[in-house]
Amino acid sequence: MNQLTIAVTGSAGFIGGHLCRRLKADGHRVVGFDLHETPQSDRFVGDIRDSDALESAINGSTDLVIHLAAVAGVTASVDSPERYVQHNIDGTLNVLKVSHANRVPRVVIASSSSVYGNCSTPARESRQLRPLSPYAASKIAAEALAETYAERRLLDVAVVRPFTVYGPGQRRDMAFSKFISAHLRGEPVAMWPFVRDFTYVDDLVVGLVGAATRDLRSRFRVFNLGSGRPTTARELIRTFERITGQHLEVRWGSAKPGEPERTHADISRAHAELGFVGGTELGAGLAAQIAASLGSDLHLEQEIDLASGIMRPRSETLAPTGRRHDRGRLAAAAEVVAS
Ligand SMILES: NC(=O)c1ccc[n+]([C@@H]2O[C@H](COP(=O)([O-])OP(=O)(O)OC[C@H]3O[C@@H](n4cnc5c(N)ncnc54)[C@H](O)[C@@H]3O)[C@@H](O)[C@H]2O)c1
Repeated sequence: MNQLTIAVTGSAGFIGGHLCRRLKADGHRVVGFDLHETPQSDRFVGDIRDSDALESAINGSTDLVIHLAAVAGVTASVDSPERYVQHNIDGTLNVLKVSHANRVPRVVIASSSSVYGNCSTPARESRQLRPLSPYAASKIAAEALAETYAERRLLDVAVVRPFTVYGPGQRRDMAFSKFISAHLRGEPVAMWPFVRDFTYVDDLVVGLVGAATRDLRSRFRVFNLGSGRPTTARELIRTFERITGQHLEVRWGSAKPGEPERTHADISRAHAELGFVGGTELGAGLAAQIAASLGSDLHLEQEIDLASGIMRPRSETLAPTGRRHDRGRLAAAAEVVAS
């Protein structure tokens, strides 16, 4: 592939960090833009709501914009919807305006699976959208603004709708991060009986790169990026216990406002058009995240095949011992499952 100059908004975030490393490894020039410092790229610190600041990262030499910057998270959006409107809707409009003004051929926009609400069956991209939270509504509005740019032939737009992304560096407000740290502190983990289609972050990056580089069937094209395999909260607990060999103490509660009970992606379009496979097995991905959280020197990330985004776990299972938290043993267990 030719070397491209790619501007990535939200480059200091969880997904942005993984994406920038992958794009650099592929030989592209990556220009990061975020409210916070970005370690991996030519970088600009700024706010997407500020057009002048954005022009420092997006200019006449930009071949592609991948727009990840957003205030993420469903629950917080119920309490402070204004922030979500300002960053996610006004901010996206600015990214579209500046990209068009600088003749950028294509913009990839991160939307979210939350636009579907509950998925009792696998959600296809054409399903009617049902926002349950201001966060979901802000993503629908951002998609709609982008579509107007595509309809007016001002930009080509690929929208991706990621389904709950996990892996090393996951945001601290997300479920896996919360229960890994609660478990390490020896505290019970708060859970409610959700069903989630989880996506390993390197799989997601493969989908983002596909959305950025593959031919699109239309000027505006939407892709689900998930695993296509929903997991119950109980299955998640069993997987965690299998990896760590320890009992996970759970305090069951009910869903927080705005949370869908069940998410499930139909990924056939992304598979056919982007070559996307959300193939990483939950146990392998979770083991990598646990090992990274422990700050161990296992270097599990290096064992992920970045080209395919797939880890190949061995089938060993680890019998629970009931022992208290033992970082060495936990890290070793993670290595066995992920190697
Ligand atoms: N992580 C998931 O499970 C998930 C699922 C669906 C969709 N998404 C979407 O993917 C994108 C990345 O998510 P993430 O999990 O990496 O989140 P993150 O919070 O780790 O990263 C978002 C980044 O955007 C930056 N940002 C926020 N507002 C900004 C502004 N006004 N100007 C400049 N930078 C700003 C933040 O500083 C942060 O570094 C978001 O658009 C999110 O809505 C994430």
